[in-house]
Amino acid sequence: MRCAFLGLGRMGAPMATRLAAAVPTTVWNRTSHRAAEIAGAQVAATPAQAVAEADVVVTMVADGAALSAVLDGPDGVLAGIRPGTVVVDMSTIGPDAARATAARCAAAGCAFLDAPVSGSVALASEGTLVAMVGGPARALERARPALAAMTRAQLHLGAQGAGAAMKLALNLALAVTNQAIAETLAIAEGSGIAREQAYEVLAAGALGSPYVQYKRSAFADPDQAPVAFSVDLMRKDVALALGVAEELGVELAVGDAAADALERVARAGYGARDLSSALTALLARA
Ligand SMILES: NC(=O)c1ccc[n+]([C@@H]2O[C@H](COP(=O)([O-])OP(=O)(O)OC[C@H]3O[C@@H](n4cnc5c(N)ncnc54)[C@H](OP(=O)(O)O)[C@@H]3O)[C@@H](O)[C@H]2O)c1
Repeated sequence: MRCAFLGLGRMGAPMATRLAAAVPTTVWNRTSHRAAEIAGAQVAATPAQAVAEADVVVTMVADGAALSAVLDGPDGVLAGIRPGTVVVDMSTIGPDAARATAARCAAAGCAFLDAPVSGSVALASEGTLVAMVGGPARALERARPALAAMTRAQLHLGAQGAGAAMKLALNLALAVTNQAIAETLAIAEGSGIAREQAYEVLAAGALGSPYVQYKRSAFADPDQAPVAFSVDLMRKDVALALGVAEELGVELAVGDAAADALERVARAGYGARDLSSALTALLARA
């Protein structure tokens, strides 16, 4: 098996590094110097060149527009891909974009899987992400060795779009959780309790989920926290989730509130920062 990996951002770089350690891999990124940093991978000058000999093509870019930019044009994936290749998009793009991409891949004779991931940068480095997969079971079996190099589980959830829908539902819950942590800490701190102690109580109790555990250092000092997941990417996911809920007629209460809260964090100037800056934005208004 030969793979191509396109999109070497905060998540893509560690995922591609793991993939390249497991199978021969060619990488491409819009900002080209990042491609040279992936140990053991060949570097391509264009997406078309990257996928020319691949059996499995993985994309990990910001959003649906970025995915289109990578697929389209004379140098794009669809211009260079061989029929029979499996295309796996692991970005968070939403179910409509996933189904539209699947149709475009089918027109090129290729199978498509939407396989967005649960977990952040640390889990990407460890290979312990969980992939939520939509698409044909046969294509998943062909792509599974590549996915297994980057994820600890590949959960097949249904037809194309199912992985994308599950990921949005999950991230809506994460956005709510993140805001709830910020509000908990703001109330504790306003009441004179040191942030570390308040966090200890949160982490030690019933709410001490893996998310609460691994965001501890980020919430300890959001101003210095390296960006694991940016506020802007979460705004994108929550907007997509709200769109899906509207289509389905599902009434949201806390989801809508989390969306409003994220908008306030972005308006305060923290869009490109880590999600933990929800706390900084809240304290600045207190
Ligand atoms: N960070 C997380 O914790 C996390 C967790 C799960 C899922 N996700 C999802 O995974 C995806 C990637 O997230 P990330 O945190 O790795 O984002 P990131 O660090 O911002 O990286 C974004 C990647 O997309 C590329 N890109 C953006 N616009 C493009 C365009 N128009 N054409 C070509 N390439 C373009 C960037 O290329 P350049 O290097 O040239 O800018 C970069 O490689 C997103 O969909 C995100 O929602 C993120």
